[in-house]
Amino acid sequence: MNDTAKDNRKNIGEVFLSAKGLCRDFGSGKSKTVAVNNVDFEFRRGEIISIVGESGSGKTTLAKMVLGLLSSSAGEIIFEGKPRDISTQSKRRLYWQNIQAIFQDPFSTYNIFNKVDEVLMDCIRLKSGRLQSGRLQGGGNLSKEEKFERMKDACSFVNLKFEELSNKYPFELSGGQMQRLMIARIFMLKPKLLIADEPTSMIDACSRATILDMMLKLRDEIDMTIVFITHDIGLAYYISDTVYIMEHGVIVEQGTADQAILHPTSDYTKRLLGDVPKIYEPWDFRAG
Ligand SMILES: Nc1ncnc2c1ncn2[C@@H]1O[C@H](COP(=O)(O)OP(=O)(O)OP(=O)(O)O)[C@@H](O)[C@H]1O
Ligand SMILES: [Mg+2]
Repeated sequence: MNDTAKDNRKNIGEVFLSAKGLCRDFGSGKSKTVAVNNVDFEFRRGEIISIVGESGSGKTTLAKMVLGLLSSSAGEIIFEGKPRDISTQSKRRLYWQNIQAIFQDPFSTYNIFNKVDEVLMDCIRLKSGRLQSGRLQGGGNLSKEEKFERMKDACSFVNLKFEELSNKYPFELSGGQMQRLMIARIFMLKPKLLIADEPTSMIDACSRATILDMMLKLRDEIDMTIVFITHDIGLAYYISDTVYIMEHGVIVEQGTADQAILHPTSDYTKRLLGDVPKIYEPWDFRAG
């Protein structure tokens, strides 16, 4: 991974998704939790954003609100210049054609009763908008051969062999293969925004670098915006154009990766950085 996101900053486009005063509470009275508290953000085309914070800081709650899986207690989300409207099933479907997510647990992405070829075929159907009564139907005007070509292409993009996997169920894949299959889905769906919630937590460091590489490549190929949600401030510095640091539901630091991480203003960011002393210096292997 020689090209960091920062090298590509010049490719960042206009704002297409933003939020103002976003809040989300859970429970009430003494047991009330303010999971997301007055959050503003602006995501641009082709931008790589990291949201960093400790466990319980509200990252996943914020992601679910952006995805439209959780309602907000206050605030608004603006999508492509207009207040986001996901009030009906068909409006939600349209919105979801633009936005995809990868969650901590890859199993949650798949219907476990669908084999790999069905998982990928669903992407072709979703892409061609052929959703009827909540179920995926048909596959657009593509011939059977064209559909197979698309599925094979997506697998080879992530170094998987379609022929070896097509007849397997997701639970028969290794953790790394499952993660790659998730990226293959994204390659086929080509969303405008990908939210990746700790996407590499299940795999070893080497596969993790490969997966990150694939995501960055995908960003370059389809001008996708990526939001990484992570505890790892070093990773955030390395891959991001823009970093948001979240503490107890509040964004306490925000800026370019250099601003937020090399020149932090909040005590919280400084404390997180205290755990990773050499974030931007080359490692000196002679020391110690
Ligand atoms: N469905 C829910 N009901 C009640 N409380 C919730 C719910 N979901 C999240 N919370 C609370 O909201 C807060 C933020 O949770 P969230 O899952 O967003 O944190 P996170 O930053 O993603 O943490 P992690 O890094 O551990 O994944 C936590 O205090 C959590 O207990
Ligand atoms: Mg989380």
